[in-house]
Amino acid sequence: MIQIAVMGHGVVGSGVTNILLNHNDEIAKKVQEEIYIKKVLDLRDFPDSPIADRFTKSFEDIINDDDIKIVVEVMGGINPAYDFVKRCLQNGKSVVTSNKELVASKGAELLKIAEDNNLNFLFEASVGGGIPIIRPLNQCLSANVIDEIDGILNGTTNFILTKMIRESMSFEDALALAQKLGYAERNPAADVEGHDACRKICILASLIFGKHVYPDAVHTEGITKITLKDVEYAQAWGGVVKLIGSVKLNKDKQEIIVAPMFIKNDCQLANVDDVFNAILVKGDATGEVVFYGKGAGKLPTASAVVADVMDCVNHIEQRRNIYWEDSDNRDVLPFEETKYAMYVLVNTENKADTLEKAEKLFGKCDVISKNDADEKELAFVTPVMKFADFDKAYKELSDGTSQTVTAIRIADI
Ligand code: HSE
Repeated sequence: MIQIAVMGHGVVGSGVTNILLNHNDEIAKKVQEEIYIKKVLDLRDFPDSPIADRFTKSFEDIINDDDIKIVVEVMGGINPAYDFVKRCLQNGKSVVTSNKELVASKGAELLKIAEDNNLNFLFEASVGGGIPIIRPLNQCLSANVIDEIDGILNGTTNFILTKMIRESMSFEDALALAQKLGYAERNPAADVEGHDACRKICILASLIFGKHVYPDAVHTEGITKITLKDVEYAQAWGGVVKLIGSVKLNKDKQEIIVAPMFIKNDCQLANVDDVFNAILVKGDATGEVVFYGKGAGKLPTASAVVADVMDCVNHIEQRRNIYWEDSDNRDVLPFEETKYAMYVLVNTENKADTLEKAEKLFGKCDVISKNDADEKELAFVTPVMKFADFDKAYKELSDGTSQTVTAIRIADI
C-alpha cells in the first residue's frame, strides 16, 4: 500500500479524492498497489465526506508522517503552497501538483530539489487540465526539435469568448457563468487578464527549451477590452478572436506572448469552443500535432493529477526524467521586436482620408467590411510589422478627425 496526502479540498482536490475513492480497485490493479489517502489538508470542515476522519488543518501532520510518500498539492497560489511543496521534497516525499502559478514561478528550483533527492515532482494538470501535454512533450515527442507551440490555454476566457461569439452574451454574464461552473480561478482576473495562460505557456516553453521562462518576461494581454464589435469584425474577416499563448524559436531567441488574436476559420484552433483547450505543437519530425480536451473543471483536472500520482507509484524508487535549468530570461525576445499583422479599428469623420493616412503610416492595408457597420467606423488589417513600428504609427493615426479604438494581433499559426 502507498500512503498519500492531498493538500487542498477545493474544486480539484475534491475531484482527486472522488476519483481515488471511486476508482480504487481499478487504479490498484493498474499500479499493483493500493493507494490510500491518509490525510487531507484543508482549513474547512467536510463532515459529509466519506473520509471526514482523515481531514487535518495542520501541515505538520503530513510532513511529520514518514509513511506518507506522495503529496498532492491542489491548493493553488504561491503561499503557502511553495513552502509546503519544498518541505515535502526536502523530506523525502514526491509531489504532484496542478498549481501552474507555482510551477511557472518556482519550477526550476523545485525540479532541482526533486532531482537532488531522487524524487518526483510532476505537474501534468498544470497545463490543459485533463489534456495530456506535459508527458507527451517530455516523452512521446522528445525526439523532435519543437520550435513552436500555439495554444488556447485558458478555459474560462475561451468559454467567455465562445459565449460572446455564438450567443452575443455580455462579457460579465459569461464570466459569472464560468465562475458558477468552477472554471475560473479564485481571482478571475488571473483568467481574464491572461496571467493564467501566461503561466501555462511559460511551463511549456521551459519544458521544450530546457530553461525556465519566467512569466514576468512574457508580454501578456487579456480579453477584458475585447468587445462584441471586435468579435463581429473578426467574423467579417473570416475568423474568430481567441486568447492565444504562443512560443516560437526565433534564431537563438524565444518569442513568447499571450494576447487575444484573430485566427482564420480554417486554423485548427478556430473551432475550439467553450471550456475546451487546444495546443498545437510543431515538431521537426512529426509536423503539427494537436492536443484537445477540457482545459478546466473538477474531474478533467483531477484525472491528470491522479494519473501523476499513479506514475509516482510506478516510479517510487526511480524518478521520472523531467527537468529544466534556471535562467535569467535573457533568451526571451523583447515583445517590441515581435512581428504581427494587426487589425485596427478607427472612428473617423472621413474614411478615405484616414485610410490614406493609415497606408502612409503602416503600408498597404486590407479594409474589413461588415454589414450594419457604423458609418464612422474604419477597420483594416496592416501588413506584418515589428510591434515597435506598429505602435509608433498607431499613436500617430489619431488626429482631429480620427480616433483609434483598438488594435488586435493577427495570429500567424
Ligand atoms: N482557470 C483555469 C482555466 C483553470 O479557466 O483554464 C484551469 O487551469
